[in-house]
Amino acid sequence: MMPPVARSFLRVTDLSSEELRLVIDRALAYKKAPQRSPDLLRGQSVTLYFNKPSTRTRISFETAVHRLGGLPVTVGPNDLQMGRGETVEDTARVISRYSAAFVTRTYADDEITRFAKAASIPVINALTDGHHPCQALADLLTLRERFGKLEGLTLAYVGAGNNVVHSLLEASALAGMNMRVAAPSRYPADPVIVEGAKRLAEKTGSRIEITESAAEAVDGVDAVYTDTWLSMGDPFEERKQREQVLAPYQVNAALMKRAKPTAVFLHCLPAHRDEEVTNEVADSDQSVIFDQAENKLHTSMAILDVLVSGAI
Ligand code: CP
Ligand code: NVA
Repeated sequence: MMPPVARSFLRVTDLSSEELRLVIDRALAYKKAPQRSPDLLRGQSVTLYFNKPSTRTRISFETAVHRLGGLPVTVGPNDLQMGRGETVEDTARVISRYSAAFVTRTYADDEITRFAKAASIPVINALTDGHHPCQALADLLTLRERFGKLEGLTLAYVGAGNNVVHSLLEASALAGMNMRVAAPSRYPADPVIVEGAKRLAEKTGSRIEITESAAEAVDGVDAVYTDTWLSMGDPFEERKQREQVLAPYQVNAALMKRAKPTAVFLHCLPAHRDEEVTNEVADSDQSVIFDQAENKLHTSMAILDVLVSGAI
């Protein structure tokens, strides 16, 4: 028998522009009134599978499930029979019989896609090699709080192409925000994702621009974003090489000066201080990094809410 179709959140473009706005609105509502739906998950569990380390995403989702009245069941790669060869599909079918949703952080995007196909419950991507959509939700909420709107803002991402910038590209395009990405040709954002975001941006009236120049990208922008130069899953042997190639992409005070005086600095964290960002910038008044971290809790509640309640 085919499982009933459940909406999942594997990448930002699984949402429409309107749905994305609804999730951000709902996250704001949860931030104002954390106890607005204490029974949404009453008597139910949410399974969280973390195959990579996590501080913010894991703790925010566990707390979100608790605040919504449910039980978070967190497992790692050594806990599940999947580690001994049970298929992704069988695991998905089994967990669908117990839990209201499945939140997963893993490597290959293909694994999470297969899981969602076989599951009859919503599957939420808590980070894969290709995407970090929950992070983008927290980032949009942070920018919306700071500027009152997203449409027409310009965000510059400076650093290595990775999951975080991919999700930001999709989120910016859907939200009508302009985005500039400065990355070296050796570590670019995935061109397929860039092209998809550009097509979406055309529809929402925003602009996506790619450059190799950090200075050019940051000129006059409202927000500057960076992330680690070496993501979880990237070959550790590349570390030295990446440090060399990416050194001109460090976000420091001189680079921040090129942005608007009202510009904010964002980082999904964990930060590698004095590598991709200086302490001076990370700890400056312009930095909103801990608001982003807090907002992961409110957006975790919101995405669980809209998927489990069937609001989208
Ligand atoms: N930003 C983020 O996803 O942090 P964690 O890896 O700590 O979850
Ligand atoms: N790009 C980073 C994000 C960590 C939250 C990584 O994948 O390791």
